[in-house]
Amino acid sequence: MNDPGKIIESVEELTDAVSVPVEAYISPDYARAERDLLWRKVWLQAGRVEELPEVGSYITFEVLDDSILIVRDSEDSIQAYHNVCPHRGRRLVDTPPGKRNAVGRKPQFVCAYHGWRFGLDGENAHVPHQEDWQGALEGCNGLAKVKTDFWGGWVWINMDPDCEPLADYLAPIPEMLDPFELQNMRVRWRKWGVFDCNWKVAMEAFNETYHVATTHPEFNKFGEFRGWARAQGKHSHIGYEAPKDVDENQKGKLRLGTGDARISTAEMQVFTWEKANTNTTQTLVDAALRLKDELPEGTPPGEVLQHWLKTARANDEARGVYWPVVDPSHVGKTGTAWQIFPNFQIGHAVNNMLCYSARPYKGDPDKCIFEGAVYELYPEGEAPETEWEYSEATEEAWCYVLAQDFSNMAAVQQGMKSFGFSGCKPNPYMERSTANLHRNLARYMGSGAPRKLK
Ligand code: FES
Ligand SMILES: [Fe+2]
Repeated sequence: MNDPGKIIESVEELTDAVSVPVEAYISPDYARAERDLLWRKVWLQAGRVEELPEVGSYITFEVLDDSILIVRDSEDSIQAYHNVCPHRGRRLVDTPPGKRNAVGRKPQFVCAYHGWRFGLDGENAHVPHQEDWQGALEGCNGLAKVKTDFWGGWVWINMDPDCEPLADYLAPIPEMLDPFELQNMRVRWRKWGVFDCNWKVAMEAFNETYHVATTHPEFNKFGEFRGWARAQGKHSHIGYEAPKDVDENQKGKLRLGTGDARISTAEMQVFTWEKANTNTTQTLVDAALRLKDELPEGTPPGEVLQHWLKTARANDEARGVYWPVVDPSHVGKTGTAWQIFPNFQIGHAVNNMLCYSARPYKGDPDKCIFEGAVYELYPEGEAPETEWEYSEATEEAWCYVLAQDFSNMAAVQQGMKSFGFSGCKPNPYMERSTANLHRNLARYMGSGAPRKLK
């Protein structure tokens, strides 16, 4: 065995090549410890604000042994409680079999066991035969509160009563992504499944661009997909290199194809729409398909990009869909996706986004609950009604490109258990997000830090 290298502690040191020990991915003890040291300490996005439209609307969110009940208790406030009856511990709101979580609307919550009742404010509203306790229930018969806050259109929860404020936790992400007005986007589809890998393996299938050329070979004909990954405190982000002298927007998600950009952009858009079902919209696809008729051959790529985005924006405005105006240099700076510690990724653009998350499944290090949701902008009141669809990790359920990503997950999970594997060696430039994830995880978990390779 080589001597273990120096532990990486600061963001600056992440430019060095590191090795990440496999413990965090495969150890049952580590997976058990995550519940208390990680999941009960961090801010987690637990649902969208628009899922709670009316007073009494509620959803639940589950992570390992904890279920959180999130309720709109008044026109302008949302509260979260531990979803457990304080009497004898029955889960208060059940998740219907086969569903990801409970969703509904109630004037109050009634425990199915002995009938204790709770108002939307979490206060106990009724205990049958309360007099039997002779006043001793005072102060311990309401629902236990969970911290909530809001950003980007999501409800965030934190089970740690002493946690730092959400704004401090998320910095600098709100400053970077607020111009994209993510809170105005609505779900086009959302799916979840139980996958055969650790939640980190699932997240790491999407937090880098290094895999694109090999895992998604079809994209190679559309251009170079070399990208960077940067650490931003606990969080990370990724983006593509832009060819020299090309519009800054090229560094963002809405990119051109190479060669005759009028033709290749349309081809890439059609492929993305049909085979990934994300990262673009029907309006963008239609506008790309018109490029060859609207622009002469030889139009420089920068002009093709401008024309494409300008006409698509105008087409959307004509149907009442308004993209935010984001300065191209800011688009370039924000890249294509942000990894919010520990388990949420937002792939943003001005008119759509793709979000992933993964969390443990029943404490088994070899399994996770994986979720993907695609959002876009809709005319007022025309967003589709969607629900979380249970979906196996297949092409039929998720589409071709995502299935390509999934195809590595179980194989990585198994491979990392090999006696012959000495630890992950993320690309220091293109996969720095993985090293940064483990640098931060180690601060919560007390072990598993990346170490310098040399
Ligand atoms: S456990 Fe809820 S009323 Fe008894
Ligand atoms: Fe991928």
